[in-house]
Amino acid sequence: MGPAADTTRAGALVLFGITGDLARKMVLPALYHLTADSRLDLPIIGVAKTDMGLDGLREYAREACGGVQDAAFEKLAGNLRLVAGDYRDPGTFARLKEETAGKGFLVHYLAVPPALFAVVAEGLARAGLNHDARLVVEKPFGHDLASARELNAELLTCFDEDHLRRVDHFLGKEPVEDLMVFRFANTLLEPIWNRNHVRSIQITMAEDFDVRDRGAFYDANGTIRDVVQNHLLQLLAILAMDPPPSKDARAQLDEKWRVLRAVQPIDPADVVRGQYAGYLDTDGVEPGSTTETYVALRAYIDNWRWAGVPWCIRSGKALPTTDLEIVAELRRPPVTMFGGEHGAPPGPNLIRFRLQPDAGVTFDLLAKEPGRQQTRPVPVSVDFTKVLGPMEAAYERILADAITGDPRRFARFDLVEESWRIVQPVLDLPERPLPYEEGSWGPEPAAEIAPGGWHEISTTFD
Ligand code: BG6
Repeated sequence: MGPAADTTRAGALVLFGITGDLARKMVLPALYHLTADSRLDLPIIGVAKTDMGLDGLREYAREACGGVQDAAFEKLAGNLRLVAGDYRDPGTFARLKEETAGKGFLVHYLAVPPALFAVVAEGLARAGLNHDARLVVEKPFGHDLASARELNAELLTCFDEDHLRRVDHFLGKEPVEDLMVFRFANTLLEPIWNRNHVRSIQITMAEDFDVRDRGAFYDANGTIRDVVQNHLLQLLAILAMDPPPSKDARAQLDEKWRVLRAVQPIDPADVVRGQYAGYLDTDGVEPGSTTETYVALRAYIDNWRWAGVPWCIRSGKALPTTDLEIVAELRRPPVTMFGGEHGAPPGPNLIRFRLQPDAGVTFDLLAKEPGRQQTRPVPVSVDFTKVLGPMEAAYERILADAITGDPRRFARFDLVEESWRIVQPVLDLPERPLPYEEGSWGPEPAAEIAPGGWHEISTTFD
Protein backbone atom coordinates (compact mmCIF):
# COMPACT_ATOMS: atom_id res chain seq x y z
CA MET A 1 0.00 0.00 0.00
CA GLY A 2 1.42 3.34 -1.00
CA PRO A 3 1.88 6.52 0.99
CA ALA A 4 -0.32 9.59 0.58
CA ALA A 5 1.03 11.64 -2.31
CA ASP A 6 2.19 15.24 -2.04
CA THR A 7 -0.22 17.47 -3.90
CA THR A 8 1.59 20.83 -3.77
CA ARG A 9 0.81 22.91 -6.84
CA ALA A 10 3.78 23.61 -9.08
CA GLY A 11 5.28 27.09 -9.34
CA ALA A 12 7.25 26.10 -12.45
CA LEU A 13 7.44 23.21 -14.86
CA VAL A 14 10.84 21.89 -15.89
CA LEU A 15 10.57 19.94 -19.12
CA PHE A 16 13.54 17.68 -19.84
CA GLY A 17 13.71 16.70 -23.50
CA ILE A 18 11.77 19.75 -24.69
CA THR A 19 13.18 19.36 -28.22
CA GLY A 20 12.48 15.60 -28.34
CA ASP A 21 9.80 13.65 -30.14
CA LEU A 22 7.43 13.23 -27.23
CA ALA A 23 7.53 16.91 -26.30
CA ARG A 24 6.90 17.92 -29.90
CA LYS A 25 4.05 15.50 -30.53
CA MET A 26 2.31 15.43 -27.16
CA VAL A 27 3.60 17.66 -24.39
CA LEU A 28 3.93 21.05 -26.12
CA PRO A 29 0.52 20.83 -27.84
CA ALA A 30 -1.03 19.85 -24.49
CA LEU A 31 0.65 22.81 -22.76
CA TYR A 32 -0.71 25.11 -25.46
CA HIS A 33 -4.26 23.81 -25.05
CA LEU A 34 -4.07 24.14 -21.28
CA THR A 35 -2.85 27.73 -21.72
CA ALA A 36 -5.67 28.46 -24.17
CA ASP A 37 -8.16 27.12 -21.58
CA SER A 38 -6.65 29.44 -18.95
CA ARG A 39 -5.57 26.42 -16.94
CA LEU A 40 -1.84 27.00 -17.24
CA ASP A 41 0.23 30.09 -16.71
CA LEU A 42 3.58 29.34 -15.12
CA PRO A 43 7.25 29.39 -16.12
CA ILE A 44 8.16 26.41 -18.31
CA ILE A 45 11.87 25.75 -18.31
CA GLY A 46 12.85 23.48 -21.15
CA VAL A 47 16.03 21.47 -20.79
CA ALA A 48 17.64 20.10 -23.95
CA LYS A 49 20.99 18.97 -25.23
CA THR A 50 20.78 21.14 -28.33
CA ASP A 51 21.06 24.87 -27.82
CA MET A 52 18.61 26.35 -30.27
CA GLY A 53 18.38 29.60 -28.29
CA LEU A 54 15.19 30.90 -26.69
CA ASP A 55 13.84 32.35 -29.95
CA GLY A 56 14.61 29.07 -31.71
CA LEU A 57 12.77 27.16 -28.98
CA ARG A 58 9.73 29.44 -29.26
CA GLU A 59 9.59 28.84 -33.01
CA TYR A 60 10.04 25.13 -32.46
CA ALA A 61 7.16 25.15 -29.98
CA ARG A 62 4.97 27.12 -32.43
CA GLU A 63 5.58 24.48 -35.10
CA ALA A 64 4.81 21.71 -32.59
CA CYS A 65 1.51 23.43 -31.80
CA GLY A 66 0.52 23.52 -35.47
CA GLY A 67 2.00 26.92 -36.37
CA VAL A 68 -0.51 28.82 -34.22
CA GLN A 69 -0.32 32.59 -33.97
CA ASP A 70 -2.74 33.54 -31.24
CA ALA A 71 -2.72 35.14 -27.80
CA ALA A 72 -2.63 31.76 -26.06
CA PHE A 73 0.53 30.79 -27.89
CA GLU A 74 2.14 34.17 -27.15
CA LYS A 75 1.41 33.58 -23.48
CA LEU A 76 2.93 30.11 -23.62
CA ALA A 77 5.95 31.39 -25.55
CA GLY A 78 6.40 34.17 -22.96
CA ASN A 79 6.54 31.53 -20.24
CA LEU A 80 9.21 29.45 -22.01
CA ARG A 81 12.84 29.40 -20.91
CA LEU A 82 15.69 27.23 -22.13
CA VAL A 83 18.57 25.59 -20.33
CA ALA A 84 20.80 23.76 -22.80
CA GLY A 85 23.38 21.20 -21.79
CA ASP A 86 24.28 17.58 -21.33
CA TYR A 87 22.26 15.66 -18.75
CA ARG A 88 25.46 14.18 -17.33
CA ASP A 89 27.08 17.59 -16.82
CA PRO A 90 26.59 19.13 -13.34
CA GLY A 91 26.92 22.54 -15.04
CA THR A 92 23.54 21.97 -16.73
CA PHE A 93 21.90 21.49 -13.35
CA ALA A 94 23.72 24.49 -11.88
CA ARG A 95 22.25 26.67 -14.65
CA LEU A 96 18.85 25.09 -14.10
CA LYS A 97 19.12 25.97 -10.43
CA GLU A 98 19.74 29.61 -11.27
CA GLU A 99 16.84 29.63 -13.72
CA THR A 100 14.40 28.09 -11.24
CA ALA A 101 15.51 30.09 -8.18
CA GLY A 102 12.58 31.65 -6.35
CA LYS A 103 9.99 29.99 -8.57
CA GLY A 104 8.51 27.83 -5.80
CA PHE A 105 7.63 24.14 -6.04
CA LEU A 106 9.10 22.51 -9.15
CA VAL A 107 7.71 19.77 -11.34
CA HIS A 108 10.45 18.01 -13.31
CA TYR A 109 8.89 16.25 -16.29
CA LEU A 110 11.20 13.71 -17.93
CA ALA A 111 10.27 13.36 -21.61
CA VAL A 112 13.62 11.66 -22.23
CA PRO A 113 14.68 8.08 -23.09
CA PRO A 114 14.32 5.73 -20.10
CA ALA A 115 18.09 5.19 -19.89
CA LEU A 116 18.31 8.84 -18.77
CA PHE A 117 15.63 8.74 -16.03
CA ALA A 118 18.09 7.90 -13.25
CA VAL A 119 20.83 10.14 -14.73
CA VAL A 120 18.54 13.18 -14.64
CA ALA A 121 17.14 12.33 -11.21
CA GLU A 122 20.68 12.11 -9.82
CA GLY A 123 21.69 15.37 -11.50
CA LEU A 124 18.69 17.06 -9.89
CA ALA A 125 19.47 15.59 -6.48
CA ARG A 126 23.12 16.63 -6.61
CA ALA A 127 22.05 20.19 -7.37
CA GLY A 128 19.49 20.11 -4.54
CA LEU A 129 16.66 20.42 -7.04
CA ASN A 130 14.90 17.40 -5.53
CA HIS A 131 13.55 19.41 -2.59
CA ASP A 132 10.21 21.14 -2.98
CA ALA A 133 9.87 19.24 -6.22
CA ARG A 134 8.14 16.31 -7.88
CA LEU A 135 9.56 14.04 -10.58
CA VAL A 136 7.37 12.80 -13.43
CA VAL A 137 8.76 10.01 -15.62
CA GLU A 138 7.41 8.68 -18.88
CA LYS A 139 7.04 5.05 -19.85
CA PRO A 140 8.48 2.46 -20.22
CA PHE A 141 9.21 2.04 -16.52
CA GLY A 142 11.77 -0.76 -16.62
CA HIS A 143 12.23 -3.57 -19.09
CA ASP A 144 11.14 -6.38 -16.79
CA LEU A 145 10.44 -6.89 -13.10
CA ALA A 146 14.09 -6.74 -12.01
CA SER A 147 15.00 -3.62 -14.01
CA ALA A 148 11.80 -1.84 -12.91
CA ARG A 149 12.74 -2.49 -9.28
CA GLU A 150 16.28 -1.32 -9.93
CA LEU A 151 15.10 1.89 -11.62
CA ASN A 152 12.65 2.53 -8.83
CA ALA A 153 15.33 2.04 -6.19
CA GLU A 154 17.58 4.51 -8.05
CA LEU A 155 14.83 7.11 -8.30
CA LEU A 156 13.93 6.64 -4.65
CA THR A 157 17.42 7.70 -3.61
CA CYS A 158 16.58 11.11 -5.15
CA PHE A 159 12.79 11.51 -4.72
CA ASP A 160 10.43 9.66 -2.36
CA GLU A 161 7.30 7.86 -3.61
CA ASP A 162 5.06 10.80 -2.58
CA HIS A 163 6.99 12.95 -5.05
CA LEU A 164 7.24 10.48 -7.92
CA ARG A 165 4.71 10.13 -10.74
CA ARG A 166 4.95 7.47 -13.46
CA VAL A 167 3.08 8.36 -16.62
CA ASP A 168 0.74 5.87 -18.27
CA HIS A 169 -1.09 8.12 -20.69
CA PHE A 170 -4.02 5.67 -20.93
CA LEU A 171 -4.92 6.76 -17.41
CA GLY A 172 -5.36 10.28 -18.76
CA LYS A 173 -7.92 9.18 -21.33
CA GLU A 174 -11.45 10.26 -20.46
CA PRO A 175 -13.02 7.07 -21.87
CA VAL A 176 -10.80 5.06 -19.52
CA GLU A 177 -12.11 7.07 -16.60
CA ASP A 178 -15.63 6.57 -17.95
CA LEU A 179 -15.19 2.88 -17.17
CA MET A 180 -14.73 3.72 -13.54
CA VAL A 181 -17.71 6.10 -13.58
CA PHE A 182 -19.85 3.52 -15.37
CA ARG A 183 -19.01 0.93 -12.76
CA PHE A 184 -19.12 2.98 -9.59
CA ALA A 185 -21.60 5.79 -10.24
CA ASN A 186 -24.30 3.33 -11.37
CA THR A 187 -25.56 0.27 -9.56
CA LEU A 188 -26.88 -1.71 -12.51
CA LEU A 189 -23.65 -3.47 -13.37
CA GLU A 190 -22.39 -4.41 -9.93
CA PRO A 191 -24.77 -7.35 -9.19
CA ILE A 192 -23.77 -9.13 -12.40
CA TRP A 193 -20.12 -8.05 -12.55
CA ASN A 194 -18.64 -11.32 -11.38
CA ARG A 195 -17.95 -14.95 -12.28
CA ASN A 196 -21.61 -15.95 -11.79
CA HIS A 197 -22.78 -13.85 -14.72
CA VAL A 198 -19.73 -13.01 -16.83
CA ARG A 199 -18.34 -15.78 -19.04
CA SER A 200 -15.33 -13.88 -20.34
CA ILE A 201 -13.92 -10.41 -20.90
CA GLN A 202 -12.16 -9.49 -24.12
CA ILE A 203 -9.95 -6.42 -24.44
CA THR A 204 -8.92 -5.49 -27.98
CA MET A 205 -6.44 -2.73 -28.75
CA ALA A 206 -5.96 -2.77 -32.52
CA GLU A 207 -3.80 -0.38 -34.55
CA ASP A 208 -3.98 -0.29 -38.33
CA PHE A 209 -0.47 1.17 -38.70
CA ASP A 210 2.89 -0.56 -38.46
CA VAL A 211 5.83 0.41 -36.25
CA ARG A 212 6.57 3.34 -38.60
CA ASP A 213 9.83 5.11 -37.71
CA ARG A 214 9.98 3.51 -34.25
CA GLY A 215 11.74 0.32 -35.40
CA ALA A 216 14.63 0.46 -32.93
CA PHE A 217 12.45 1.32 -29.94
CA TYR A 218 9.79 -1.21 -30.83
CA ASP A 219 12.21 -4.02 -31.57
CA ALA A 220 13.71 -3.73 -28.09
CA ASN A 221 10.25 -3.92 -26.56
CA GLY A 222 7.46 -5.69 -28.48
CA THR A 223 3.72 -5.59 -27.86
CA ILE A 224 3.72 -7.11 -24.38
CA ARG A 225 6.15 -4.53 -23.03
CA ASP A 226 4.80 -1.67 -25.14
CA VAL A 227 1.12 -1.83 -24.27
CA VAL A 228 0.11 -4.93 -22.27
CA GLN A 229 2.29 -4.51 -19.17
CA ASN A 230 1.13 -0.94 -18.75
CA HIS A 231 -1.95 0.33 -20.63
CA LEU A 232 -3.92 -2.89 -20.94
CA LEU A 233 -3.26 -4.23 -17.46
CA GLN A 234 -4.33 -0.82 -16.14
CA LEU A 235 -7.60 -1.30 -18.02
CA LEU A 236 -7.95 -4.78 -16.57
CA ALA A 237 -7.39 -3.38 -13.09
CA ILE A 238 -10.06 -0.71 -13.53
CA LEU A 239 -12.55 -3.23 -14.88
CA ALA A 240 -11.84 -5.96 -12.35
CA MET A 241 -11.20 -4.06 -9.12
CA ASP A 242 -13.60 -3.96 -6.20
CA PRO A 243 -15.36 -0.67 -5.49
CA PRO A 244 -12.97 1.55 -3.52
CA PRO A 245 -14.31 2.39 -0.06
CA SER A 246 -13.95 6.13 -0.65
CA LYS A 247 -13.16 8.54 -3.41
CA ASP A 248 -9.69 9.43 -2.25
CA ALA A 249 -6.86 8.68 -4.63
CA ARG A 250 -5.14 6.26 -2.33
CA ALA A 251 -8.25 4.11 -1.89
CA GLN A 252 -8.57 3.77 -5.68
CA LEU A 253 -4.92 2.90 -6.17
CA ASP A 254 -5.05 0.40 -3.31
CA GLU A 255 -8.01 -1.43 -4.89
CA LYS A 256 -6.24 -1.60 -8.23
CA TRP A 257 -3.22 -3.02 -6.50
CA ARG A 258 -5.36 -5.61 -4.68
CA VAL A 259 -6.83 -6.94 -7.89
CA LEU A 260 -3.53 -7.00 -9.79
CA ARG A 261 -2.07 -8.89 -6.85
CA ALA A 262 -4.67 -11.60 -7.52
CA VAL A 263 -3.81 -11.98 -11.23
CA GLN A 264 -1.86 -15.16 -11.93
CA PRO A 265 1.40 -14.86 -13.86
CA ILE A 266 0.52 -15.49 -17.51
CA ASP A 267 1.11 -19.05 -18.62
CA PRO A 268 3.11 -19.22 -21.88
CA ALA A 269 0.53 -21.81 -23.03
CA ASP A 270 -2.09 -19.02 -22.90
CA VAL A 271 -0.22 -16.74 -25.29
CA VAL A 272 -0.04 -16.47 -29.09
CA ARG A 273 2.51 -14.02 -30.44
CA GLY A 274 2.66 -12.77 -34.01
CA GLN A 275 4.88 -10.67 -36.24
CA TYR A 276 3.54 -8.99 -39.37
CA ALA A 277 5.11 -9.81 -42.73
CA GLY A 278 7.62 -7.13 -43.64
CA TYR A 279 8.50 -6.16 -40.05
CA LEU A 280 12.04 -7.49 -40.44
CA ASP A 281 12.67 -4.98 -43.24
CA THR A 282 11.99 -2.01 -40.95
CA ASP A 283 14.85 0.37 -40.15
CA GLY A 284 16.20 -0.31 -36.67
CA VAL A 285 14.86 -3.87 -36.46
CA GLU A 286 17.49 -6.56 -35.77
CA PRO A 287 17.97 -9.19 -38.50
CA GLY A 288 15.93 -12.28 -37.59
CA SER A 289 14.26 -10.43 -34.68
CA THR A 290 11.79 -12.50 -32.64
CA THR A 291 10.03 -9.43 -31.22
CA GLU A 292 6.25 -9.69 -31.39
CA THR A 293 4.12 -7.04 -33.08
CA TYR A 294 0.94 -8.86 -32.04
CA VAL A 295 -0.13 -10.73 -28.96
CA ALA A 296 -3.26 -12.53 -27.81
CA LEU A 297 -3.28 -13.84 -24.26
CA ARG A 298 -5.49 -15.06 -21.44
CA ALA A 299 -5.14 -13.91 -17.87
CA TYR A 300 -6.91 -15.28 -14.79
CA ILE A 301 -7.71 -13.53 -11.56
CA ASP A 302 -7.64 -15.69 -8.44
CA ASN A 303 -10.27 -14.04 -6.30
CA TRP A 304 -13.90 -14.63 -5.36
CA ARG A 305 -15.22 -12.24 -7.98
CA TRP A 306 -13.32 -13.53 -11.00
CA ALA A 307 -11.93 -17.03 -10.41
CA GLY A 308 -12.16 -19.08 -13.63
CA VAL A 309 -13.21 -16.17 -15.88
CA PRO A 310 -10.78 -15.73 -18.77
CA TRP A 311 -9.59 -12.15 -19.37
CA CYS A 312 -8.58 -12.21 -23.02
CA ILE A 313 -6.32 -9.45 -24.26
CA ARG A 314 -5.18 -8.91 -27.84
CA SER A 315 -3.23 -6.10 -29.38
CA GLY A 316 -1.11 -5.55 -32.43
CA LYS A 317 0.24 -3.33 -35.15
CA ALA A 318 -0.81 -3.55 -38.82
CA LEU A 319 -4.29 -4.85 -37.98
CA PRO A 320 -7.44 -3.98 -39.95
CA THR A 321 -8.59 -1.03 -37.76
CA THR A 322 -7.51 1.29 -34.98
CA ASP A 323 -9.90 0.59 -32.13
CA LEU A 324 -9.93 0.04 -28.42
CA GLU A 325 -12.90 -1.93 -27.18
CA ILE A 326 -13.81 -4.13 -24.24
CA VAL A 327 -16.46 -6.81 -24.64
CA ALA A 328 -17.94 -8.58 -21.63
CA GLU A 329 -19.76 -11.75 -22.60
CA LEU A 330 -22.48 -12.71 -20.17
CA ARG A 331 -23.49 -16.27 -19.45
CA ARG A 332 -26.54 -17.58 -21.31
CA PRO A 333 -29.84 -18.23 -19.53
CA PRO A 334 -29.90 -21.66 -17.85
CA VAL A 335 -32.91 -22.73 -19.94
CA THR A 336 -33.17 -21.87 -23.64
CA MET A 337 -36.74 -20.75 -24.26
CA PHE A 338 -36.10 -18.74 -27.41
CA GLY A 339 -33.90 -19.79 -30.31
CA GLY A 340 -31.66 -17.57 -32.38
CA GLU A 341 -31.78 -16.74 -36.05
CA HIS A 342 -32.45 -19.64 -38.46
CA GLY A 343 -32.76 -22.14 -35.65
CA ALA A 344 -29.27 -21.43 -34.31
CA PRO A 345 -28.80 -21.20 -30.54
CA PRO A 346 -29.29 -17.62 -29.34
CA GLY A 347 -26.16 -15.54 -28.94
CA PRO A 348 -25.00 -14.28 -25.56
CA ASN A 349 -25.64 -10.81 -24.19
CA LEU A 350 -22.62 -8.60 -24.68
CA ILE A 351 -21.67 -5.38 -22.92
CA ARG A 352 -19.31 -3.36 -25.03
CA PHE A 353 -17.26 -0.48 -23.72
CA ARG A 354 -15.85 1.50 -26.59
CA LEU A 355 -12.84 3.63 -25.79
CA GLN A 356 -11.35 4.63 -29.13
CA PRO A 357 -11.71 6.24 -31.58
CA ASP A 358 -15.16 7.14 -30.21
CA ALA A 359 -16.40 6.43 -26.71
CA GLY A 360 -19.57 4.87 -25.40
CA VAL A 361 -21.37 1.76 -24.27
CA THR A 362 -23.44 -0.78 -26.17
CA PHE A 363 -25.55 -3.59 -24.75
CA ASP A 364 -26.15 -6.36 -27.29
CA LEU A 365 -29.58 -7.61 -26.19
CA LEU A 366 -31.81 -10.25 -27.71
CA ALA A 367 -35.22 -9.16 -29.00
CA LYS A 368 -38.01 -11.06 -30.74
CA GLU A 369 -37.74 -11.04 -34.48
CA PRO A 370 -41.07 -9.59 -35.69
CA GLY A 371 -43.35 -12.22 -37.24
CA ARG A 372 -41.12 -15.10 -36.10
CA GLN A 373 -40.60 -17.14 -32.97
CA GLN A 374 -36.89 -16.41 -32.83
CA THR A 375 -34.56 -13.82 -31.36
CA ARG A 376 -32.15 -11.41 -32.94
CA PRO A 377 -29.36 -9.43 -31.24
CA VAL A 378 -30.09 -5.70 -31.17
CA PRO A 379 -27.56 -3.09 -30.01
CA VAL A 380 -28.68 -0.56 -27.41
CA SER A 381 -26.03 2.12 -27.59
CA VAL A 382 -24.96 5.46 -26.29
CA ASP A 383 -22.28 7.46 -28.04
CA PHE A 384 -20.75 9.57 -25.25
CA THR A 385 -19.26 12.17 -27.56
CA LYS A 386 -22.62 12.80 -29.23
CA VAL A 387 -24.52 13.00 -25.98
CA LEU A 388 -21.95 14.54 -23.67
CA GLY A 389 -19.68 16.52 -26.01
CA PRO A 390 -15.98 16.33 -26.84
CA MET A 391 -13.48 14.90 -24.42
CA GLU A 392 -10.15 16.30 -23.25
CA ALA A 393 -6.93 14.87 -24.65
CA ALA A 394 -5.04 12.48 -22.38
CA TYR A 395 -1.84 14.52 -22.25
CA GLU A 396 -3.65 17.66 -21.15
CA ARG A 397 -4.99 15.83 -18.14
CA ILE A 398 -1.65 14.17 -17.40
CA LEU A 399 0.14 17.53 -17.46
CA ALA A 400 -2.56 19.25 -15.44
CA ASP A 401 -2.22 16.48 -12.84
CA ALA A 402 1.57 16.66 -12.91
CA ILE A 403 1.19 20.32 -11.95
CA THR A 404 -1.41 19.81 -9.21
CA GLY A 405 0.06 16.50 -8.02
CA ASP A 406 -3.17 14.44 -8.16
CA PRO A 407 -1.75 10.89 -8.23
CA ARG A 408 -4.88 9.07 -9.50
CA ARG A 409 -3.94 9.08 -13.17
CA PHE A 410 -0.39 7.89 -12.64
CA ALA A 411 0.98 4.40 -12.10
CA ARG A 412 2.01 3.83 -8.50
CA PHE A 413 5.07 1.61 -8.22
CA ASP A 414 3.37 -1.28 -6.48
CA LEU A 415 0.99 -1.50 -9.47
CA VAL A 416 3.84 -1.31 -11.96
CA GLU A 417 5.59 -4.06 -10.06
CA GLU A 418 2.53 -6.33 -10.10
CA SER A 419 2.09 -5.76 -13.85
CA TRP A 420 5.66 -6.84 -14.54
CA ARG A 421 5.18 -9.88 -12.31
CA ILE A 422 2.10 -10.85 -14.35
CA VAL A 423 3.77 -10.66 -17.77
CA GLN A 424 7.26 -11.77 -16.68
CA PRO A 425 6.86 -15.46 -17.76
CA VAL A 426 5.93 -14.44 -21.30
CA LEU A 427 8.60 -11.80 -21.92
CA ASP A 428 11.31 -12.89 -24.38
CA LEU A 429 9.78 -16.27 -25.25
CA PRO A 430 12.29 -18.20 -27.35
CA GLU A 431 9.85 -19.30 -30.08
CA ARG A 432 9.57 -17.27 -33.26
CA PRO A 433 6.31 -15.30 -33.32
CA LEU A 434 3.84 -16.57 -35.93
CA PRO A 435 3.71 -14.58 -39.15
CA TYR A 436 0.57 -12.64 -40.15
CA GLU A 437 -0.31 -10.48 -43.09
CA GLU A 438 -0.61 -6.71 -42.66
CA GLY A 439 -4.28 -5.79 -42.42
CA SER A 440 -5.30 -9.17 -40.97
CA TRP A 441 -6.44 -9.94 -37.41
CA GLY A 442 -3.14 -11.61 -36.53
CA PRO A 443 -2.06 -15.26 -36.71
CA GLU A 444 -4.92 -17.77 -36.91
CA PRO A 445 -4.17 -19.70 -33.68
CA ALA A 446 -4.88 -16.44 -31.79
CA ALA A 447 -8.59 -17.20 -32.35
CA GLU A 448 -8.32 -20.02 -29.82
CA ILE A 449 -7.19 -17.75 -27.02
CA ALA A 450 -10.75 -16.46 -26.49
CA PRO A 451 -13.19 -19.23 -25.52
CA GLY A 452 -15.80 -19.33 -28.29
CA GLY A 453 -13.66 -16.97 -30.42
CA TRP A 454 -13.17 -13.21 -30.38
CA HIS A 455 -16.28 -11.07 -30.78
CA GLU A 456 -16.14 -8.81 -33.74
CA ILE A 457 -15.58 -5.32 -32.46
CA SER A 458 -18.22 -2.75 -33.23
CA THR A 459 -15.93 -0.15 -34.98
CA THR A 460 -18.64 2.53 -34.96
CA PHE A 461 -21.97 3.45 -33.40
CA ASP A 462 -23.72 4.09 -36.71
C1 BG6 B 1 2.14 4.02 -26.68
C2 BG6 B 1 2.80 2.92 -27.44
O1 BG6 B 1 2.40 3.93 -25.32
O2 BG6 B 1 0.73 3.96 -26.90
C3 BG6 B 1 2.45 2.96 -28.92
O3 BG6 B 1 4.21 3.03 -27.30
C4 BG6 B 1 0.95 2.99 -29.10
O4 BG6 B 1 3.00 1.86 -29.61
C5 BG6 B 1 0.36 4.10 -28.26
O5 BG6 B 1 0.67 3.21 -30.47
C6 BG6 B 1 -1.16 4.13 -28.31
O6 BG6 B 1 -1.62 5.27 -27.66
P1 BG6 B 1 -2.88 6.05 -28.19
O7 BG6 B 1 -3.15 7.08 -27.17
O8 BG6 B 1 -2.53 6.62 -29.52
O9 BG6 B 1 -3.96 5.02 -28.32
